[in-house]
Amino acid sequence: MDSFVIRGTCRLEGAVRVSGAKNAVLPVMAASILTGGTCILENVPDLRDAKTMMQLLEVLGGSVSLDEGRAAIDTSRIDTFEAPYDLVRTMRASVYVLGPLVARYGKARVSMPGGCAWGPRPVDLHLKGLMALGAKVRIDHGYIDATADRLRGAEIILSIPSVGATINLIMAASLAEGTTVIENAAREPEVIEVAEALKRGGASIEGEGSSTVTVIGVNELNPFTHRAIPDRIEAGTIAAATVATGGDVTVEGCRPDHMHAVLDVLEQAGAEIETGEGTIRVKGAEEIRSVNIETGFYPSFPTDMQAQMMALLCKAAGASTISEHVYPDRFTHVPELKRLGASITLDGNVAVVTGRDRLEGAPVMATDIRASSALIIGGLMAEGETKVLRVYHIDRGYERIEEKLQRLGADIVRIRE
Ligand code: UD1
Repeated sequence: MDSFVIRGTCRLEGAVRVSGAKNAVLPVMAASILTGGTCILENVPDLRDAKTMMQLLEVLGGSVSLDEGRAAIDTSRIDTFEAPYDLVRTMRASVYVLGPLVARYGKARVSMPGGCAWGPRPVDLHLKGLMALGAKVRIDHGYIDATADRLRGAEIILSIPSVGATINLIMAASLAEGTTVIENAAREPEVIEVAEALKRGGASIEGEGSSTVTVIGVNELNPFTHRAIPDRIEAGTIAAATVATGGDVTVEGCRPDHMHAVLDVLEQAGAEIETGEGTIRVKGAEEIRSVNIETGFYPSFPTDMQAQMMALLCKAAGASTISEHVYPDRFTHVPELKRLGASITLDGNVAVVTGRDRLEGAPVMATDIRASSALIIGGLMAEGETKVLRVYHIDRGYERIEEKLQRLGADIVRIRE
């Protein structure tokens, strides 16, 4: 597995363009199954997870071509309804094929996603929702087996506003008979994204982006063409790295309106933020201020930015607290940041980060996508050399991050193994 060697400390400067959003592209690719034709998806980032989703669609009988970020996804010959363990274990978002397969073909067998690096991640809400729509669901030898004649609209109240469940159920309901109302729906921009793509194919969906989404099922959906939104987490990660290094960077091609909570916290940490039409200029201050962060569901501070913020707070003046409310165990980056000399104590889902004047480079291990980017930020702030092992994880979710950082002046190289 490749690794990154980073020599800190540096100051990031310049301009960088963000890629299409991983978490939007994956479900929209799965949504193409509902159309049974050729959908076009633009602004597809060159990521391992996007390739895994394409591979999964091919396993199902679809065919996918990708040319300079433009994917043509033909699902007219789907003839296999099983998402195998080998793919699902490398990418949980594979579960996004469940709703579309059951809705369009009346059957799906999807390997049950297991836990992940930071603890349990159940899919019970996806399954309960599908059952409410009339699917028969059973667990069989580690697989979710779902069948239905035709799904029927229903009222579904989610106990947690799960992004994955909301999207899977919107997709399934779009071909159901009658009206589905999803209460306590997730409000993330990625939910809006899927609804918009489906609406281009003729779906009838209202309320996406609010807590109540109404889907009036149609008999068939046409193939759609859709351009993915920019990745708000990649943009936030670069902004955090800029603040961490006291830099001055303009993030281009982004959606500042998707990033209020992150930009607010960066401002509290001392950054100067200027937003424009699709741009954010971030200027880090000489001293990073301590802040208190509570992660939550959109529009609150995203859990996917928690690790990166923790990294930058390792050099803040004073103590910061970070409370993780979405995934209470999502702290695998803590012991690795400590290897760089960070002072962090953990009590349940709350981390207290006491800023230090200096961090020291060390070998560290990436455990998941966002933890990896936190270690890169740590490496940029630390004196001397930091080697981040297993960057396989970062390649799942960030498009050639080292090249983008190099253009901003970072001393980071990929060691191919
Ligand atoms: C998505 C994102 C992930 C992000 C997360 C939270 C993708 C591909 N992944 O993951 O990067 O960290 O949103 O913003 O878009 N839950 C249940 N039962 C379920 C489903 C979820 O209890 O059936 C719980 C989860 O354990 C978690 C919370 O709901 O505590 C939110 O999870 P969810 O929004 O579903 O996350 P994902 O869609 O898996």
